[in-house]
Amino acid sequence: MTVWSLIYNKFDPEQEKLREALCTLGNGYFAARGAASEAQSDDTHYPGTYLAGGYNRLQTEMQDRFIENEDLVNLPNWLSLSFRYADQDWFHLKNVEILEYRQELDMKRGILHRNVRFRDSQGKRTRIKEQRLVHMAQPHLAALRLVFSPENWSGEVEFRSALDGRVINGGVDRYRDLNNVHLEPVESDMPDAETIRLKVRTNQSRLEIAQAARTTLCGNGEPLDIRHENVVEPKYVAGHFLVQVGKGMDIRVEKIVSLTTSRDKASSECRLEAMNHVRSAGDFESLRNSHILAWKHLWRRFDIDFEEKNPPIEDRTGMILHLHTFHLLQTTSLHTMDLDVGVPSRGWHGEAYRGHIFWDELFIFPFLNLRVPEITRSLLMYRYRRIDQARAAAAEAGYRGAMYPWQSGSNGREESQRLHLNPKSGRWIPDHSRRQRHVNAAIVYNIRDYYQATQDMEFLSFHGAEMVLEIARFWSSIATYNSTMDRYEILGVMGPDEYHEAYPDSDAPGLHNNAYTNVMAAWVLNEALEMLEVLPEDRRKELCEKLALGEEELKRWRHISRRMRLVFHGDGIISQFEGYDALQEFDWEGYREKYGDIQRLDRILESEDDSPDHYKASKQADVLMLFYLFSADELRELFQQLDYPFDDETIQKNIDYYIQRTSHGSTLSQVVHSWVLLRRNRDHSWKLFSEALESDISDVQGGTTPEGIHLGAMAGTVNMIQVGYTGLETRGDVLWFDPCLPSDLARMEMHIHYRGHNLRIEIFPQYMKITACRARKNVIKIGYKGTIHELDEGKTLEIAFRRQ
Ligand code: BGC
Repeated sequence: MTVWSLIYNKFDPEQEKLREALCTLGNGYFAARGAASEAQSDDTHYPGTYLAGGYNRLQTEMQDRFIENEDLVNLPNWLSLSFRYADQDWFHLKNVEILEYRQELDMKRGILHRNVRFRDSQGKRTRIKEQRLVHMAQPHLAALRLVFSPENWSGEVEFRSALDGRVINGGVDRYRDLNNVHLEPVESDMPDAETIRLKVRTNQSRLEIAQAARTTLCGNGEPLDIRHENVVEPKYVAGHFLVQVGKGMDIRVEKIVSLTTSRDKASSECRLEAMNHVRSAGDFESLRNSHILAWKHLWRRFDIDFEEKNPPIEDRTGMILHLHTFHLLQTTSLHTMDLDVGVPSRGWHGEAYRGHIFWDELFIFPFLNLRVPEITRSLLMYRYRRIDQARAAAAEAGYRGAMYPWQSGSNGREESQRLHLNPKSGRWIPDHSRRQRHVNAAIVYNIRDYYQATQDMEFLSFHGAEMVLEIARFWSSIATYNSTMDRYEILGVMGPDEYHEAYPDSDAPGLHNNAYTNVMAAWVLNEALEMLEVLPEDRRKELCEKLALGEEELKRWRHISRRMRLVFHGDGIISQFEGYDALQEFDWEGYREKYGDIQRLDRILESEDDSPDHYKASKQADVLMLFYLFSADELRELFQQLDYPFDDETIQKNIDYYIQRTSHGSTLSQVVHSWVLLRRNRDHSWKLFSEALESDISDVQGGTTPEGIHLGAMAGTVNMIQVGYTGLETRGDVLWFDPCLPSDLARMEMHIHYRGHNLRIEIFPQYMKITACRARKNVIKIGYKGTIHELDEGKTLEIAFRRQ
């Protein structure tokens, strides 16, 4: 193992779908799972190709009503490249004796390798070596190279290179009962002996997708005598190449592929453009070189370098952190800036959660903000473009302002399903998760964070502010005044903990006064009011006029931000929601004994005709999210403003209380817990951090990663290093640091982007060095423990740490 490679030395059919998700290659425009090139969808393999934001809606009749889902569509399989000996079956790993096997995801270069040596039933030994890339600099291109070497035989071999649009969305077992044919044929043909071309269309969103592939063969570097045969069907096209191979020869097959759609910019018609791309693309070697260069540049911006005091022989942590960064960059890359897409919670790596956008952005944006904030800007623009849908959703629910959906897809309507299948019981059950209105606070948090890191006033005044004000207006309208208490309340919502959807035995969905939601709502109102002060006078005026925002309304915002209700119980415990204290304690030990893994407690309890609604048992951090997002100082101020107590013990007491009552049924949970414990209990924090690192690579939830990676947890772990260990905070006009390195790190280095400056940050156990590389002239302010230092362009600041 190296820190740059994910390596598998054995073929394991049981693990194959997990590996396909982990070995996905993508460039922000499209992604393809790391399925074997000869594979078709079956029990072992699931080749999938997904376009960023490539959605389609389908209806299915379910329990006497039609439900509609919008899915990320599995596009034609362009990987398809296989071979067979004359008149035999096509190659399949299950039908041969595997002599050697090695698969390597080279994350530094963005290349997937697979080398296999095998013996068939006739005793023929063959070696194949495959390399594949999805081009990081040219978003429409991908390439495959297969070197086929007969070791002890000669004869005729038929190679088949196809574009296969007969695929369905079949990647998630739970969705099997739902309609899943999204593609209809448009055209398929072979413009010349080397090139195949396919165009399909999604049957509802009418998105046209074209692919073209140029396949060339040579033997020991020389041209071969090739007999061509073609198969052209409505959703399928394949070129067959029959060649005589000799013992010891290397047959090199190269497949250069392009993928375009009717939504591309600078495009006449996608089939034509697919041809243009594939014709002008160089050969595999030249594409490989330019692709590696693009990755080199990305890593220069995004890598975090460590030096450990006692370097382990196998640095699994370093490798996994690279894997997480790698998948972040393949989901949201520089190409994202040109697209109208959000960042999907499961990457463009599989079909779980249908490629939808949730609040997980909250865990992902902080990492991007300090590296390439332009990417965050474009992801925020995805939200801005859907503000009218959010306004309509608020109005429909009887509120004002903008109410963004819990799950968002193509046009920003609510995409959360109304029923979901419990695979454990086989029952379809109502899904109230759309009541997680807190996603709206996450959007404001992201706008604030982006602005703090960039000071991009243009974005704020033309786009960000409108979202913030409309979301503030939504919170103000959903909050109801309880005159007996002289407090505002938010009723009938869900917090981040999805195990609690309603009160025990109540038919009404939702809970009252979820602490996280209420604090966030008060905070949003503060932010909105402050932002009005920061905006340039003309934009403030224009926005207030456009939104008909007057003094009366602002007065209400101010009032709510001071009188929002929080509920407490016990000795200073912030109740997750009103009535939490009355729930039963859960028998954690008993259930652990009975079921072993109880992360998905909701499914276990539902299959027992019970529900987590009855218990003090959470899926993930809820109250503790507050300590994840805000510093103790910020929270103290907020609580003071709300006229609630917040003392030195509050954080620790609440951590101790909730950590025992959480099953970590979401991969986000360990990230948050590890973060909040970082400065309180390093060992426990490290344990949770290590668990979060394993979430995907070891598929700890037993079957979810094959359906798509968990991007929030991936970003959260990397951000733990970037922000958690450095104590980095963009507050006011100062870049604050408060390093807290794990004891076995000797040095850590990273490059960040802050308000137009490129900063090299080096942290050692006793001191840190910050260098402002040549970029911008103005000085920046660096803060450490209350002292603010000024740093000029080209200069280095060294700060010795003070003991507490
Ligand atoms: C979590 C949510 C998260 C979603 C998508 C769910 O399991 O509970 O917090 O947004 O997954 O990642």
